[in-house]
Amino acid sequence: MLGVAYGIATNMYAGDKVDVMERQVERAQAAASEAAAAAEAEAARVADIEAKAAEIQNEARLALASAGAGSVSQPAPMADGRYGIGRAALPEEIAAWDVDVLPDGRGLPEGSGNAFDGEEVFIEKCGSCHGDFAEGVDNWPVLAGGFDTLADEDPVKTVGSYWPYLSTVWDYVHRSMPFGEAGTLTADETYAIVAYILFSNDVIDDEFELSRETFLDVEMHNAEGFVLDDREALEYSQWRGEPCMENCKDEVQITMRSVFLVETPPEGGSDSVMNPATLDGLPPFTADGPAFVPEPTEKPVEAAAATQDVEEPAAEDGDAALLKAGAKAFKKCQACHKIGDGAKHGTGPHLNAVFGRTIGGIDGFKYSTAFKAAGEEGRVWDEESLAEFLAKPKEYIKGTKMSFAGFKKEDDIAAVLAYLKANGE
Ligand code: HEC
Ligand code: HEC
Repeated sequence: MLGVAYGIATNMYAGDKVDVMERQVERAQAAASEAAAAAEAEAARVADIEAKAAEIQNEARLALASAGAGSVSQPAPMADGRYGIGRAALPEEIAAWDVDVLPDGRGLPEGSGNAFDGEEVFIEKCGSCHGDFAEGVDNWPVLAGGFDTLADEDPVKTVGSYWPYLSTVWDYVHRSMPFGEAGTLTADETYAIVAYILFSNDVIDDEFELSRETFLDVEMHNAEGFVLDDREALEYSQWRGEPCMENCKDEVQITMRSVFLVETPPEGGSDSVMNPATLDGLPPFTADGPAFVPEPTEKPVEAAAATQDVEEPAAEDGDAALLKAGAKAFKKCQACHKIGDGAKHGTGPHLNAVFGRTIGGIDGFKYSTAFKAAGEEGRVWDEESLAEFLAKPKEYIKGTKMSFAGFKKEDDIAAVLAYLKANGE
C-alpha cells in the first residue's frame, strides 16, 4: 500500500517536474528570441543614426564648401567612443567658431580697409542707429567723441574716449553688428568700418589702411587709462575691520528701478524714447519682475523738429536741380552745422555768410588751433578754398577737428557750395 502510494507520488512528482522544466525552456526560448530581436533593433538603430550623421556631415561639408571655406581637408570621423554618439570636430568647424581677436592682433583675418571707403559702408549699415558720424541717434550708443569727459559725473564713453584695445572694436563689430544682423560683415567691410570709427575719433587719418599688418600701429586714446585691480593686495586688509553700524538711516527707500535705466530704446527703433517713468509713477514690482512692458512713446515735438530736414530752398536763380542736389549733399553736414535764419553753433560753427569769412573767424566758437592759425595768417573762405577743404578737410587744414572724410564727387562739392550761398547769404 505504501509502495503504491510512493509510486503514485513519484509519478506525480515526475510529471510536475517535467511541466516545470518545459515551462522553463519555453520562457528561456522566448527571452532569447526577445533578446535577439532587441539586438537586431538596436543594430538597426545604430545603422540609422550613423547614416543620418553621415548625411549631416555631408551637408555640412557642402555648406562649408559653398560658403567659400575651401575644401574640407579630411572626411569627418565616424561615430566613436563609448556611447556611439558625437565625433571630433573638423578643423574647418573649429575655425568657423574660433573668431576672437586678441589685443596683439592674433586672430585677425586677411583683409584691409580705410576710413574713406568705410564711410559709405558705415552710413549704410550703422548710421541709422549710431549716426552718420558715429555721434549716436537718440538713445543709441555714441561711438565717437566724449574726450575729457571720463572724470565727469556723466562720462561719455565711446570707442575714442574709453576703449583701450582696438581688438575689442574689431571683434565686437565683426561679431555682433549691425544690431539684428550680426555676422553679416565681411572682413574687408569690418576693417573699413573700424577705420571709419577710428577716423571719427581722430585716431587715424582717412587714408590709413587698417589691416593685420598695421593693426598694432594704431594708438588708442585711452590705452593707458585702465589699471590692474590691486585692491586685494592694497585695500583688502583695510576693509576687514569691524563694520561701522553707527549713524545708519532709519528708513530705506527704493527710489528707482534699473528697468527704467535701460539705455537701448525698446521696439520702435530710433524714433522711440524711453518710457518717462517718474518716482511717484513706479509700476508694481513683484517677485516675477516688473508689471511693466516698455513701450515706444511718441517722439517729443522738439526732438522731431531738431532732426527735420533743412528746408528746401526756393529756387530763385533758376538752378533748382543744383540746389536740390545741394540740400541732399548738405545732409552730411547737418549733424554738425546749422544754416539759415537764427542758425546757432553746434558741433561745428553756423555756416551763415561763410563766403568771405576769415577761417575760424566767428567769435564764440571754439576752433582748433589749426583753424585759429589759418585765420591769423589772414586766410579766407572762398569758392576755391572751400572746394579744396570739402574734398579733404584733414588734408587742407592739418589738425582740424572737423570729422568729415570729404566729398568724393566734385558734383557734390559744387552743389553744396551753391546751397551754402543760397541759404546763408
Ligand atoms: C539697429 C540699430 C543698430 C545698428 C544698425 C548698429 N548698431 Fe551698433 N549698437 C546698437 C546697440 C543697441 C548697441 C548696444 C548693444 C549693447 O549694449 O548690448 C550697439 C553697440 C555698438 C558698439 C559698442 C558701443 C559701446 O560703447 O558699448 C559699437 C562699437 C557698435 N555698436 C558698432 C556698430 C557698427 C560698426 C554698426 C554697423 C556695422 C552698428 N553698430 C550697427 C545698435 C545698432
Ligand atoms: C562731425 C561734425 C562735422 C561735420 C559732419 C561737418 N563739419 Fe564742418 N566743421 C566742424 C567743426 C568742428 C569745424 C571747426 C573746425 C576746427 O575748428 O578745426 C567745422 C568747420 C567748417 C567750416 C569752416 C567754418 C569757419 O568758421 O571757419 C566750414 C565751411 C565747414 N565746416 C563746412 C562743412 C560742410 C559743408 C560740411 C558737410 C559737407 C561739414 N562742414 C561737415 C564739424 C563738422
